[in-house]
Amino acid sequence: MKKRLGIISLFIILFIAFIAVWNFSYQIGKEEAYIPFERSTEVSSIIPSEKGVFERSEHALDYANMPVDENHQRSLKHYYDNRAYHGAPPSIPHPIKDEMTIGANTCLKCHENGGFTEKFNAYAPVVPHPELVNCRQCHVPTNASGVFRPFEHRSVVAPKAGINNALAGSPPIIPHQIQMHENCLSCHAGPSAPKEIRVTHPERINCRQCHVPNNKEMTDIGTFKRAISNE
Ligand code: HEC
Ligand code: HEC
Ligand code: HEC
Ligand code: HEC
Repeated sequence: MKKRLGIISLFIILFIAFIAVWNFSYQIGKEEAYIPFERSTEVSSIIPSEKGVFERSEHALDYANMPVDENHQRSLKHYYDNRAYHGAPPSIPHPIKDEMTIGANTCLKCHENGGFTEKFNAYAPVVPHPELVNCRQCHVPTNASGVFRPFEHRSVVAPKAGINNALAGSPPIIPHQIQMHENCLSCHAGPSAPKEIRVTHPERINCRQCHVPNNKEMTDIGTFKRAISNE
């Protein structure tokens, strides 16, 4: 009896030893195949000054697959008709409710991602700067037209689209400034983008990899002085 117990416990010990050794070598084997990738939620490191380029890039593929609604396209003419000059904040071309005093969420309901607005029969342009929540600090409704006498104000001439390639087929330079234009897809993609500048390749994501800003010399318009007669 004792002998038999001894043999059984010897087998049990051998079995446990086998499991332990096997497990140990299995773990060692696993470690050898271990690659120390750090878990990261960031896509990659982005140059801080180019961060805006990626602001809407999660929607890039959706934009690429979106059909063009021929009947409700904006044009560059329509775009500039609503601006005092190139770079000026566009006026609000539609009625706004009184309680929409500051803006923020009320405006972002339509302008955060755009989309067709039945009552204005147009696509809402996507706001390039949703973080500037005090919308009506800069955007005012159009209340009057034709009340101001034209004067000799030298307006900033808007750059032209379609003539900015060095060679046919090469990426056009960015003809406008980057400030207030960081978020490329907001103006260049989707149904509210003016048709002349709607990008054919929103899915390329890293716009500034190929498109470089215009570094041409600016013309100095001098210091603006108000002409006061009795001075
Ligand atoms: C019900 C949806 C809706 C709401 C709410 C709304 N908008 Fe709009 N907005 C539109 C649409 C649609 C257009 C395009 C009109 C057109 O092109 O004729 C537009 C156009 C504009 C434009 C002109 C953009 C351009 O490029 O010319 C500005 C500026 C603007 N809205 C600002 C605002 C502000 C500020 C608020 C909040 C006080 C606001 N909107 C609330 C739908 C909306
Ligand atoms: C600090 C001033 C300022 C604030 C605040 C501001 N905007 Fe603008 N916005 C501008 C300027 C300037 C432009 C014109 C940029 C350009 O075309 O060069 C513009 C352009 C736009 C456009 C036109 C985009 C296009 O397709 O051309 C929309 C729409 C717009 N803003 C909506 C809003 C909304 C909605 C808010 C509030 C969440 C807001 N803005 C807050 C200054 C401002
Ligand atoms: C506020 C709206 C707006 C934003 C944001 C914007 N653009 Fe533009 N872009 C325009 C307009 C409008 C034109 C047409 C020329 C003009 O009037 O400035 C244009 C023209 C261009 C052109 C020339 C197209 C041609 O056919 O010649 C390129 C390239 C371009 N933009 C690239 C960019 C890139 C890259 C970004 C992001 C860094 C950007 N844009 C952000 C409005 C915008
Ligand atoms: C891999 C390089 C590359 C990247 C990345 C790229 N583009 Fe382009 N882009 C080009 C080339 C090349 C052209 C000229 C296309 C032609 O003439 O057929 C062009 C043309 C354009 C035009 C003129 C209209 C058109 O579509 O032909 C606009 C606007 C534009 N790009 C905006 C953008 C924006 C916004 C982004 C970021 C989403 C972007 N591009 C990313 C290479 C690039």
